[in-house]
Amino acid sequence: MPSELGLEGHSDADILAHAITDALLGAAALGDIGMHFPDTDPRWKGADSLRFLANAAGLVRERGFTIVNVDSTVVLERPKLKDYRQPIRESLAKTLGIEMDRVSVKFKTAERVGPVGEGRSAEAQAIVTLAR
Ligand code: C5P
Ligand code: MG
Repeated sequence: MPSELGLEGHSDADILAHAITDALLGAAALGDIGMHFPDTDPRWKGADSLRFLANAAGLVRERGFTIVNVDSTVVLERPKLKDYRQPIRESLAKTLGIEMDRVSVKFKTAERVGPVGEGRSAEAQAIVTLAR
């Protein structure tokens, strides 16, 4: 999305994909994103984070889980993201191999408080339900 601001990271700094990847791994007790895709590994430099997400979805499925639903929140002062909600949900659902109505993406500001509120950073939170 067009903005004068962006995030710096070893991969593409897609914090939403990272949070959901971590939640998937966590729900199956498979460790965390840094364990599977260490940022010291040149293979992941500039990586498309949807690859991490697809990989994590594969790992949980290999263990016999199905992904029931995903809820997530991006905390970001600007730009406004709500106009991108549908394409973001679509892209995540496609990557996860589940229906879009199982993928929730929410947005909020930090009400101008702290590093996120001052526009110096951003956060993402996610929770995933698995069934087996
Ligand atoms: O955090 P706040 O109450 O200001 O958010 C108001 C609305 O703005 C939310 O419902 C959210 O969908 C939207 N929003 C957004 N992009 C952001 C932050 C909030 O679209 N970066
Ligand atoms: Mg509010």
